Amino acid sequence: MDKMATDIKKLVSEMTLEEKAGLLGGADFWHTKAVERLGIPKFMMSDGPHGLRKQDEEGDHLGINDSIKAVCFPAACATASSFDTDMIGKMGEAIGDECQAENLSIVLGPAVNIKRSPLCGRNFEYFSEDPYLAGKMAAAYINGVQSRHVGTSIKHFALNNQEYFRMSNSSEVSERAMREIYFPAFEIAVKESQPKTVMCSYNKINGTYSADNEWLLTKVLRDDWGFEGFVMTDWGAVNDRVQGVRAGLELEMPGDSSVNDAKIVAAVKDGSLDEKLVDRACERILKVVYDYLDNKKEGVVFDRDADHEKAVAAAVECGVLLENNGILPLDPSKKIVYIGEYAESPRYQGGGSSHINSSKVTSALESARAKGRNVEYVMGFPGQKDEPLDKAELEKAVAAAKDADVVVIFAGLPDVIESEGYDRANMNMPAAQNELIEAVAAVNENTVVVLHNGSPVETPWAEDVAAILEMYLSGQGVGEATDQLLYGEKNPSGHLAETFPLRVQDNPSYLNFNTDPEKCRYAEDVYVGYRYYDKKMMPVRWAFGHGLSYTTFELSDMKLSSDKMTDSSTIKVSVDVKNTGDVVGKEVVQLYIGDLNGTFDRPVKELKGFAKVEVAPGETKTVEMVIDARSLSYFEESMGDWFAPSGKYELLVGNSSDNITLREEISFETNKVKPMRCDSSITIGELLANPATKPIVDELLKKAAENSPFGESNEAVGDEMMQAMMRFMPLKSVMSFGMMTEKDMEQLLSAISAKVQG
Ligand code: BGC
Repeated sequence: MDKMATDIKKLVSEMTLEEKAGLLGGADFWHTKAVERLGIPKFMMSDGPHGLRKQDEEGDHLGINDSIKAVCFPAACATASSFDTDMIGKMGEAIGDECQAENLSIVLGPAVNIKRSPLCGRNFEYFSEDPYLAGKMAAAYINGVQSRHVGTSIKHFALNNQEYFRMSNSSEVSERAMREIYFPAFEIAVKESQPKTVMCSYNKINGTYSADNEWLLTKVLRDDWGFEGFVMTDWGAVNDRVQGVRAGLELEMPGDSSVNDAKIVAAVKDGSLDEKLVDRACERILKVVYDYLDNKKEGVVFDRDADHEKAVAAAVECGVLLENNGILPLDPSKKIVYIGEYAESPRYQGGGSSHINSSKVTSALESARAKGRNVEYVMGFPGQKDEPLDKAELEKAVAAAKDADVVVIFAGLPDVIESEGYDRANMNMPAAQNELIEAVAAVNENTVVVLHNGSPVETPWAEDVAAILEMYLSGQGVGEATDQLLYGEKNPSGHLAETFPLRVQDNPSYLNFNTDPEKCRYAEDVYVGYRYYDKKMMPVRWAFGHGLSYTTFELSDMKLSSDKMTDSSTIKVSVDVKNTGDVVGKEVVQLYIGDLNGTFDRPVKELKGFAKVEVAPGETKTVEMVIDARSLSYFEESMGDWFAPSGKYELLVGNSSDNITLREEISFETNKVKPMRCDSSITIGELLANPATKPIVDELLKKAAENSPFGESNEAVGDEMMQAMMRFMPLKSVMSFGMMTEKDMEQLLSAISAKVQG
């Protein structure tokens, strides 16, 4: 198809109303409709996002029916821990090539919903509790896939943070929390990688289904962020189809959509839907279709073996060394026993629509044996069942542990506990696994635990074991990657993209998670993940950003290109990273920002930059991160805009949110003025806090003191107390205490208004 010949507007003008309405709904589970009369072909999409779930035969959206053999890359829970945008970009390129080879025009992903609660069943598909990290990883993935002229569908827009009543529940959230926590992953991805499509979520937001929500799909997505592609529904998420077209929802999936197509036609005919909106939706869809067709690559081969190697390399970047007393890396000359069925049959992906029919999976045990390592194996507990411990297996495991120099237990969550479609009931690992780990650790102090899970688990034995390696669900390369990391062929470099609380009850969403089938109150507001634990100074098991290595690093020489910033300037932050240990390794440098102005209601610090760098022993490298005014800002609802008050901010650098080793201060000057209400309810404190109105109020207070009914300050109400009490006093009360006349107040309000309105 010749690009130049594809005049989309003209094509749409030649379509009948019925053909246009038809194009706005799928033909079947995975295809759009063709319009043969005009040569418009159908096109195919498929789940991912960490590999292809292309179904040739019967389609379904829950991963029930088989799909073609494909390569299962690490899931988002794992890739986020890599903090490695190059790695996920390359993974995207490989998946883009696979799509070209399989004639898939769109891969459905990435999924970027925030991990609000550790219990969300789909957390394994999501990146992080932090929106900046999730956005950067998503943008890099999308740029990778789309560099191959294959589209992506960033999902689920928005606020789909639980599976409980996911198709109908209303997420009740403040606009500030949406803009600061739940939207930025989508926003960053749209601005930095322009995904070809966005998939709207099933749920409602403050009472309106995402599929009907014009504010969400048009105002926020297109007007505020500049999205240029098309929006499709999640599978079956359409509500009122005609309202959807008005709102900016282009494609309904899956098909057959004939009932709703007819509604669109009827609405245009009876005048309740403007045909121009139907045309607009068709143009948006066809733009993506023809971009794919015009750039279709012929002869691309899906090389599963080569991509398996890429999946192994990706998984290596994801492993997070949570604890290590020095037992790791393992000494291969020691007598080692592997316990836990995951050693032989790893859990490496989650259940549901992202489930890949993997081309090959190598276990850690197979990998060890292939390398001739001195490893014995005892099952101990089954990987895929949550049932009481078999006493005979326990005895075998304990006996083998006593006899070994080192024990490696492969533990985690069975498929049945963690899947799309439902949430976890608690944060526990199966009791049998905890029991076995404790029994083994009691007889062998060199017990190492490898974890396979998509979201935090409680680890009551964490202090009793020698090391813990979190491998998450790291795809079909998990066994080889785990082997390379355990024996130090590769050095762990992942850092946690989420906090591991000590207990699920500590999580900020705990009181408002899965409590009401109709509504979910996001009462913790912007205090999600480390933003909450930091503010409450709560101990956690492992903090956001934590991750150890087989070497040590020293961060030093933090330099700023300037210590002053304005609305339009940026600051470059550079930091030296020295490898002070004996082996090559990668460090994840993290930059957090905190507001020092006492601004009402802000997290202590928030991630605003990161860089991963490989450094050889003795070597020093410099990393750079750039911040701008947005990095300092919060979403001020009264302005409908991002705002940072003029003043001081601290830039904090470390290798974990709980290990900040460098700190610098900057001053910021803004031209934005936070509007002040100018009526008699404004308080003295608010007026004093605003430099523009402070002098006027100082004058007023001086005069008022002379007329004060409270008399001179005395022991009961001293000067300081008086000022503190006056802080919350509205002008109308100052007047009713006789400290000013009504006329004075009117004059004052107009003086204030002149100051704050410019
Ligand atoms: C899931 C989506 C998925 C779609 C198609 C839905 O149930 O929520 O993430 O892409 O099915 O399988």
